[in-house]
Amino acid sequence: MRVLPDFNPTPEQRKIVADNRPGFRIIRGAAGSGKTSTALLQLRLQTEARLRRRRRESAEEPVRVLVLTFNRTLRGYIEELARKADNGDDALQLEISTFGAWSWELAGRVSVLERAEVREMLSLGLDDLGISAQHDFFIDEIEYVLGRFPPGQLNDYLDARRVGRGRAPRVDRPRRQALLDGPIASYDAAKKRQSLVDWNDLALLTASVLPKHRYDIVIVDEAQDFSNNQVRAILHHLSDDHSTTFVLDAIQRIYPRYLAWPEVGIDARGISHKLTRNYRNTAAIARFALPLVADLDVEDDGALPDFAACTVEGAKPLVTVGTYNAQFSFMLDRLLHNADLRTETTAVLKARGGGWFDEARRVLTARGIAYCELTRESEWPTGHENVALCTMHSAKGLEFDHVLIPGLSQRVTPHGPEDGDGDLEQLRRMLAMAVGRARKSVMLGYKPGEESTLIRLLDPATYERVEL
Ligand SMILES: Nc1ncnc2c1ncn2[C@@H]1O[C@H](COP(=O)(O)OP(=O)(O)OP(=O)(O)O)[C@@H](O)[C@H]1O
Ligand SMILES: [Mg+2]
Repeated sequence: MRVLPDFNPTPEQRKIVADNRPGFRIIRGAAGSGKTSTALLQLRLQTEARLRRRRRESAEEPVRVLVLTFNRTLRGYIEELARKADNGDDALQLEISTFGAWSWELAGRVSVLERAEVREMLSLGLDDLGISAQHDFFIDEIEYVLGRFPPGQLNDYLDARRVGRGRAPRVDRPRRQALLDGPIASYDAAKKRQSLVDWNDLALLTASVLPKHRYDIVIVDEAQDFSNNQVRAILHHLSDDHSTTFVLDAIQRIYPRYLAWPEVGIDARGISHKLTRNYRNTAAIARFALPLVADLDVEDDGALPDFAACTVEGAKPLVTVGTYNAQFSFMLDRLLHNADLRTETTAVLKARGGGWFDEARRVLTARGIAYCELTRESEWPTGHENVALCTMHSAKGLEFDHVLIPGLSQRVTPHGPEDGDGDLEQLRRMLAMAVGRARKSVMLGYKPGEESTLIRLLDPATYERVEL
């Protein structure tokens, strides 16, 4: 499958590329504004400059570069570009990794609790508190708290603004205290008793080990889904005159995490760059995605999809209504009619993975359409299949010519009942992000009577409805 193409930077991107001061740098902008591409171009130029300086000064230490991405698929996707900075010279040590894999190595390859195990342990504590509904929300809340605050300062949670967590269910001060004293304390005690380590512990360990070596140039892509503790871990491994670039868009945050510059000790004033154009989507696609997130808290580090920033108008996305098979068959017919599957890429995206793809796999096989599957764990496929099955989570940061989202039912997008529900806000950001993967066309589908709440949020003026 094709990777990110080469491009000529525009003036706003060139300004970032030319900014070669050491220290921190933040690149913000909406989906498709070229944040990742610009950061990688800058990485290439900075690496070359550091290599020249190293030769001039006859330094012995290599130039150490670290590129951290959130999921492994994205790692494979940008590897190709990042490698262009590497001309096989041992003066350069280039590491491209996910935060998980990087910290796991540094923290001594300890075995880490599975998500299901964590869930089970925390669920017991929530039951004890009498919290019976929306366990997933509260488990996410706990992950958020543990990732945001250093272990000795969990009480800061009591009065903190819970940025990114929605307005409902309400988590007032007494409830926060109860979470700290109940499930969080018992989870911590159980981990200590059994010498267990979770992913946040891994970040904390990484922030406390003696660095083997320090990095000169670092890129953290999709930083909106990093926690404070993960960023604290990265900061612990920087050289004195490092150059570190965070690439993020808070509107695309899809995990219960929060990165706050003052809380990790970074002064964001004067180091932020914002990209405003949209090089990926058509205006019709950006217009379709906008209502999903338009009234959410954009935060300083977020940017809404902006149709005025796109150069091509494009056709309206399609929303198909019918049985799953009817939706998917219609989408494939349209795709085969309008697209060249040999040269154009397509993603079939779903809110959930595993068995939810069975039907799509069956239909694609029956029609003789070659496909590959992308998960958070997989590398970017190097084969010739140009159709990928992928969860929305795993598609973060990637792009495809065509995006198909069949079967958008309430069952795969569950959330709480109240206005401002935190889970619903996360789903809204996720669907907008998923739609924003598309360069040329988007088709979405649902079965009447089973549709996700997200469908109601779309603006009918921005799509063509097809009854099957
Ligand atoms: N100056 C440019 N001219 C033409 N195309 C560009 C330019 N800058 C970026 N692009 C293209 O725009 C697309 C989106 O770029 P990129 O993936 O870097 O965006 P992003 O801001 O990181 O998006 P996301 O938030 O979804 O991760 C890519 O295909 C890239 O090649
Ligand atoms: Mg990106």
